[in-house]
Amino acid sequence: MARRSSLVLLFAFVSGCVIGDDRDRPIQVTIGREVDASRGAVVCVEENAARIGAQVLGRGGNAVDAAVAVAFALAVTWPEAGNIGGGGFMLTSFQGRERFFDYREVAPRAATSTMFLRPDGSVDVDAIDHSYRGVGVPGTVAGLELAHRELGSLPWSELVAPAIALARNGFTVSPALEKSIASVREVLAKNAESARIFLGRDGTGMRAGEWLVQPDLARSLERIARDGAAGFYAGDTAKLLVGDSERNGGILTLADLSDYAARERAPLRARYRGHEVIGAPPPSSGGQVVLSSLLRLEHFDLGGLELGDPRELHLLLESQRRAFLDRARFLADPDYHEVDLARLLSAEHAKETADSIDPASATRSDELAAGLDGTLSDENEHTTHFSIVDRAGNAVANTYTLEQSWGSKIVAKGTGILLNDEMGDFNPKPGSSTRKGRIGTAPNGIAPGKRMLSSMCPLIVKDEQGALLFVGGTPGGRTIPSTMLRVVTALIDHRASPRVALDAGRVHHGLFPDVARVEAQVSEESRHVLATFGHELDVVERQGDCHAIAREGATLRAFADSRIAGTAAAPIE
Ligand code: DON
Repeated sequence: MARRSSLVLLFAFVSGCVIGDDRDRPIQVTIGREVDASRGAVVCVEENAARIGAQVLGRGGNAVDAAVAVAFALAVTWPEAGNIGGGGFMLTSFQGRERFFDYREVAPRAATSTMFLRPDGSVDVDAIDHSYRGVGVPGTVAGLELAHRELGSLPWSELVAPAIALARNGFTVSPALEKSIASVREVLAKNAESARIFLGRDGTGMRAGEWLVQPDLARSLERIARDGAAGFYAGDTAKLLVGDSERNGGILTLADLSDYAARERAPLRARYRGHEVIGAPPPSSGGQVVLSSLLRLEHFDLGGLELGDPRELHLLLESQRRAFLDRARFLADPDYHEVDLARLLSAEHAKETADSIDPASATRSDELAAGLDGTLSDENEHTTHFSIVDRAGNAVANTYTLEQSWGSKIVAKGTGILLNDEMGDFNPKPGSSTRKGRIGTAPNGIAPGKRMLSSMCPLIVKDEQGALLFVGGTPGGRTIPSTMLRVVTALIDHRASPRVALDAGRVHHGLFPDVARVEAQVSEESRHVLATFGHELDVVERQGDCHAIAREGATLRAFADSRIAGTAAAPIE
């Protein structure tokens, strides 16, 4: 065995490939920013997790098997967003049939619609962002178990095992992780457990090249490997979570955890220029914003303009603005509030709202939203998406999150588990909104057991013949659907190569604040034209991080977005 390992390592060195072991044979894996996906591939934000997913594919696992392994691995290696203490959405396509697994967090039983208001009526943002009160009941473990039960093929415990090994034995901190830790150092320092794990001996934050071990997290993962979701929602982990919450002013109970259920829902679908676009249904607004924007854009000849032409960017912005108005008015947890998606995605609605767009002048959000009691709040950009296809062409698009980067920044004592601050995605102040960014519309108010509205949008696109064209998604809060709109229109309208579609400058309009957000690579001239159309511009360094698998020529390839730190990986044989 020792001899085989050294031979394997030698081969890895010589070939430039990364090699792993399973019980019987080494699994050879290609790693890069782009890899061929015809034998299956994984693309995500972090290399260890990508490699683990590709090894699962190489052992004969399918796309959901690999997704489970990648999701658990990212909970160890990409703590700002990879998680077991948060929630998310998984869109799958198996044998041509799409299924959607909703593992969004829910409000605890003791939550109330005004729980984040101070006596003077102001919103206690710190309580939402950095306290146990902002923690929604996590959904990730239940969601992964549900998807695995429905579609997985390899034993569950084998899929959790690589994450346990990473947590127990450790891994090298990457430059991207160093940067991520540094960006939240002061807040992590306020929680003794987070500080102990992530800030290193001198308390200044772990550095690239250092070795990060997480033994408490390894133990939590072992309970999940052994008992499935029950190893998280009951037993030691549940007791540790609830105990820490109670000692620190939280409202989580054992019943909240044992009640949690992931849900399967029908994905949203729309036809766009002969393609089928499949996205996330409520409680996400992601599918509604992307699909309704596309239906509106079908009334304009985007393909007749150059990719990135300011007139084209203007149409994207105006279409988004209208989609975000519908989002603010109508979108919420469908178990609590009926959402008339048939109308929002109808041809009539698309035509009517397209007619209200002036191709050379920005609409003022105030005019459009007259009567809307609310606006939308600012969010950072930290969530993570991975895409997977297997050898049979089955696909997974998975986006999951702790809400803000590193969630609440709280690690529950004794568990190693970082907890979300997803309660911040509810509307915190009923009936009161600010033009600057807080929404108070009723549908997304806080209620016990309810899922908070999301923007996450794992997406699958099939071409005119029904063949897989694109699998992807991105972080970015409210900018998520805007990013996906750019990528998908680049592919379909401009017939851009996947790399060009991912690199194209992204724009976002979320209705309020009435500002067009544009990536820095959108040219000065284009920005100037957008300003003459009446847009107030906010230039940002980057928007999103879309890891995608897409068809290029006759073959599927996996493409890591280069905006944060992505890796694509594929089994070699
Ligand atoms: O579910 C959502 O839409 C957000 N909680 C996602 C957050 C995100 O992408 C990062 N930024 N806040």
